[in-house]
Amino acid sequence: MDDNVEFLQNNSIVSTSFQEQDAQENILRPKYLKDFQGQAKIKENLSVFIKAARDRGEALDHVFLIGPPGLGKTTLASIVANEMGSEIRMTSAPALDKPKDLAGILTNVSENSVFFIDEIHRLKPALEEMLYIAMEDFEIDWVIGQGPSARTMRIPIPHFTLIGATTKAGMVSSPLQTRFGINCRIEFYTEEELSAIIRRSASLIDIKIEDEAVKLLARCSRGTPRIANRLLRRFRDFAEVTGNGVIDADVVHRSIANLGIDLNGLEDQDRNILRTIIEFYGGGPVGAETLSISVGEAIESLEDFYEPYLIQKGYLKRTPRGRMVTSKAYELLHLEDKMPKLSNQEETLFTLF
Ligand SMILES: Nc1ncnc2c1ncn2[C@@H]1O[C@H](COP(=O)(O)OP(=O)(O)OP(=O)(O)O)[C@@H](O)[C@H]1O
Ligand SMILES: [Mg+2]
Repeated sequence: MDDNVEFLQNNSIVSTSFQEQDAQENILRPKYLKDFQGQAKIKENLSVFIKAARDRGEALDHVFLIGPPGLGKTTLASIVANEMGSEIRMTSAPALDKPKDLAGILTNVSENSVFFIDEIHRLKPALEEMLYIAMEDFEIDWVIGQGPSARTMRIPIPHFTLIGATTKAGMVSSPLQTRFGINCRIEFYTEEELSAIIRRSASLIDIKIEDEAVKLLARCSRGTPRIANRLLRRFRDFAEVTGNGVIDADVVHRSIANLGIDLNGLEDQDRNILRTIIEFYGGGPVGAETLSISVGEAIESLEDFYEPYLIQKGYLKRTPRGRMVTSKAYELLHLEDKMPKLSNQEETLFTLF
């Protein structure tokens, strides 16, 4: 088929992210802002911007969502569409291979609808350039023909809201980033916010959990709703098979011991990362690539999943020369005897450079 005709009909790339999600995650996914727990500032701002856009009958400005995995980026994107009362199309940057893939979607979106691109930091340069014009002028440049007879046509497209999500804000080019009118940085959730999420999920999927167990589960969920929901289901398994079906504090303690998780949410691999930096690299600094090979973990999951939580909990620091553990990490692993003897002044200098 002619490329130019094909791109108008090609919608197969859309919604791949939906197919990947497990069914239960979809049941638990809040549909409206009122069910989305925590992130008070983001919710407050979004509700104002959404109301203003709706009242004017316009598409919402483009939204950029940044944050570690499992904190609710995909969820927020579908909430925005629901609150706008508009359609949503979802895809992820690696699924968009050629300009015609993107053009196919952009020419087919409905007026004022939402187009969600996950992992937007992985967008190819040619597609990114197409997005610049689409986001600003609601047009795309399309090349017709080949060689000397090739010419560019500007095709108008419907007004739409692009929602771009990424775990790596630093890898998104600034021309792209500055074209988003609304920037939301999603932070780890507090234990109170996670407790509210756990109670909501437990009632939705009919799991009995005691208050004390809710608190413990919130503590070991790494500030992350996806982990809270996943652990809730695992604890239910333990409660049903080895207990009376109710998740109480005792079930939580037994389950986390079996799963190799501690009450701070740290897993075996977290401790392995910290121990490796201490035992092989004298506490650091060590580069991310070297570290990822040493601990046998893909660099993406090291940087996106493990490090943000270890940093937030104060066990690890990122410095320009690499990763370094803090004194808290030596204490956690009972390796105080390996701690380098530095004066306070040296420690400050060490952190700065
Ligand atoms: N604020 C919230 N309130 C209630 N549940 C939430 C909230 N945020 C996320 N969740 C739950 O956590 C799950 C994971 O969230 P989501 O898929 O939106 O994360 P994500 O940021 O898109 O992750 P990734 O970077 O891996 O794509 C959702 O299915 C939802 O049930
Ligand atoms: Mg997602």
